Parts: sequence; C-alpha cells; structure tokens
Amino acid sequence: MDLVSYDQGTFDHIVSDYRKFADEIGIESFVPMPISGFKGDNITTLSPNTPWYSGPTLVDHLETVEVDSALDQGKPFRMPVQWVNRPNLDFRGFSGQIATGRLAPGDAVRVLPSGKTSTVSRIVTFDGDLDEAVAGQSVTVCLADEIDCSRGDVLSVADEPPEVSDQFEATLVWMSDEAMTVGRGYWLKLGAQMVSVTVQEPKFKVDVNTMDRLAAKTLELNEIGVAEIATDKSIVFEGYDKDQALGGFILIDKMSNATVAAGMLHFSLRRAQNVHWQALDIGRRQHADLKNQKPAVLWFTGLSGSGKSTIANLVEKKLHRMNRHTFLLDGDNVRHGLNKDLGFTESDRIENIRRVGEVSKLMADAGLIVVTAFISPFRAEREMVRAMVPEGEFIEVFIDTPLEVAEARDVKGLYKKARSGELKNFTGIDSPYEAPDSPEIRIDTTQMSPEEAANFIVDRLLGDI
Ligand code: ADX
Repeated sequence: MDLVSYDQGTFDHIVSDYRKFADEIGIESFVPMPISGFKGDNITTLSPNTPWYSGPTLVDHLETVEVDSALDQGKPFRMPVQWVNRPNLDFRGFSGQIATGRLAPGDAVRVLPSGKTSTVSRIVTFDGDLDEAVAGQSVTVCLADEIDCSRGDVLSVADEPPEVSDQFEATLVWMSDEAMTVGRGYWLKLGAQMVSVTVQEPKFKVDVNTMDRLAAKTLELNEIGVAEIATDKSIVFEGYDKDQALGGFILIDKMSNATVAAGMLHFSLRRAQNVHWQALDIGRRQHADLKNQKPAVLWFTGLSGSGKSTIANLVEKKLHRMNRHTFLLDGDNVRHGLNKDLGFTESDRIENIRRVGEVSKLMADAGLIVVTAFISPFRAEREMVRAMVPEGEFIEVFIDTPLEVAEARDVKGLYKKARSGELKNFTGIDSPYEAPDSPEIRIDTTQMSPEEAANFIVDRLLGDI
C-alpha cells in the first residue's frame, strides 16, 4: 500500500478484481487487508495511513482465524505414520497427526500400502490414553496385532481405504528458476512418503490472469500446469479435493535438494490400476547362479571421442575370453535401433539414458555383466540408473579425456561440425557435460593406453566379484 500512497480506491479495485477471480476458482470467502510489509502498516497495529480500514490486522487475523476441522472429522479415518515408536519390546505405537476422520480403541484399521488389517488397542498421548481422537490431533496408535507398518505408511479405516497407485494426473506449481525437465527423476514427498518421480510434458499450463489453458512443453518459474506423473514405487494417496494431507506433495531436485514444485494429485491413471507385477519363480539369483558370476553394470561415461567405445569393447573382449557372459550396449548402435526416435535435446538424452538403464537392468537381472558406452552427460540420470539396480552392481567408469584432447582427435569429424555451427547441441560445445563426482573407476586417457585402461577396469571388476 505504501507504493500507492495508501489509496482506498486502488485497494477497493484490487479487492473487486480478486473477488471475481476467487469466484471462478471456487474460493468462497477471503479477508482482504491493506498492508505494507515494508513499512509495517496493519501488520500488528491498525495504521493511521489507512483511516478508512477498520481491521483486522494481519497478526490479529492469523491468531484468531477459525480453521474448520469439523469437515475433516466427518471423513473416513486416515493417519500418515510419521514414525514408529518402540521404546522397549513391550510397546509399539505408530505416531502421526490424524489427517481426517476419527478413531477409537476397538476400531478396525488397515495399513497401506500393504493392506494388512488389525484393531486399535490404545490411543496414547502425552496427557494419557484417549477414548477417541479426531482429525488434527497428534497421537500414537497401538494395534492388537504385530503387523508390519513403518514410516511413510498410512493407517486408515479398514473398510474404506485410500487408493494406492504409481501413475497420476496432477497440478504442479513450479517454484524453481530452473524450468521443469520432462523425464528427469525428482523426489516426490507426500507426507512421510518419499519416492522418485518423473513428469510428462504438461497437458497444458494455466494463464493465472485469464484462467485460459495454454499449450506448454515445460513449466517455468511460477507457472502452473497439469501433467501426468509416474512414481517408481506405489504411494498411498487421495485426490487433493478430498484430502489435502494425502493429495498435496512437493517435488525436490535430487542434486541440489531444493524444493522445485508444489503439487496436487487429481486421480490415478486407469492404466496404472490395471497393470500389476507378475511374480516370477526364476529370478535374478537363479539366472546369475547358472552363469556362475555376479551381474554388474559397467557404466562408461565421458565426452564424445573420449575413448568410451574403444575401451568398453576391449573390456568386453577380455571378459568374454575369461568365460564371462557379457553384453555391450553402445550409444552409436542403440541409436540406430531401440532409440532411433531420439535426438540430442536435453529431454531426448534423458529418455535415451532411461531406456538404456531399463535395458541394462533387465540384462543384469538375466545374470549378465553389462557394459554400456553412452556420453550420459547428466549426473541425475546416471544416478537414476544406479538406483535401478541392486546396491554395488552399478560401476561408474569415467573416461576422463579433456575436451581439447577429444576435439583434437575428432575421430568422426563431429567437433568440427559443431564448431562451425552445422551441428547443434553438441556435448562439450553447446550442450553441457557434468563429470562424475566420485566414480567407482576413473580412467585418465592422457596417462593410459586403451589396453592398459581395459586391464585396469577388468582387474577392478573381478577384484570385487
Ligand atoms: S547421450 O548424450 O544421449 O548419452 P549417446 O552416447 O547416446 O549420447 O550418443 C553420442 C554419439 O552420438 C556421439 O558419440 C556422436 O557420435 C553422436 N552425436 C551426434 N550428434 C551429437 C550431439 N549433438 N552431441 C553428442 N553426440 C552426438
């Protein structure tokens, strides 16, 4: 208000505009206040600069506003488990804040996502046991049976549980300077549940002034859009309109740990509900046992022309000679088949690595030692593949060749084309390469011949087996 000289006309005008907008998005009541955060007007005391305003001040309002929890209490019982309280062998309770509904000893409850049921034996608080607890209260719930339940699970009324799914439509509010990257893995945090998630190209973004739906390839800072998202593990959820605690989430950048978006789940996609995991009797153990080897993914990364393919090829030859069962996936070759629909934009490279990661995982499940040679320029996607296979099986091999050296070699003549502008998005020239921070193996190709490098890698690999 200090910027408009505390003019009542300006304030009234903004309020009437906002009232129209609030009607459109279904907000029934709101409290407009003329404030200056900078000068402090109407924050804690009524300001002499706005004699036409009679209150409340911001602090008065925040201290006295009634949050209507009666509505939440009428819904089915749900409580996200914040932690498992087990001070000794005689006591095990599940602590959290009741999101919706009410709960009493004797009630039948279900643990999600496992679906196991039990009954409530006690509801414990600092002030003693309760006969009943309602939405908004923080409690510790004890169950009659020793069933599995851990942090991130949800306790629910037994006969009306929330849904469990791994694919959704959601609204996202993008809050980072760095635009959303389609296909990249982010952390999704919903209550105490934390899973990896990828976002599809938005269905549309919303012009917040007109509420018009606009076409969008991504979401930039402060943009709001609707997109489909897929998590790597199923989560327990509810549509945000029904339950804010089980429908609201944030997205976190895996590298910087910064919160990049807030979101609201709409519904689970039907295709997710109808695709189940098929249990198989012959698994990765059996495959590997028969081959008498420990599966691994030797993931080469480095600039174009760094020597990845040459060294990877030598490594495979050596392993093969030692009767190891191997398979080499090479960028140039895979891009002629499986990934021939992909180019070199950021999102195409991410999809390239995602697919190669999935194929490598299947091959490692089949008991093979997989060798891959892709530039794989982004740390986030290399870490995504690492997380796909069991711990210890992903071995990052950084083929460390300085750009000047790779460019001087220019085996395929591509650096020359990139420098002349004939080839766009070339790694190291006008597209970034993020070197690994702590690769399992680093090869300095200015110090080692390809043959020496291959010996070194095979020794390291078999030393581990
Ligand atoms: S990645 O970045 O998506 O991992 P990938 O390893 O599959 O790349 O493919 C890299 C190979 O494609 C290079 O060795 C080079 O032969 C060729 N290539 C063609 N265009 C480009 C480009 N713009 N940037 C990098 N490599 C390119």
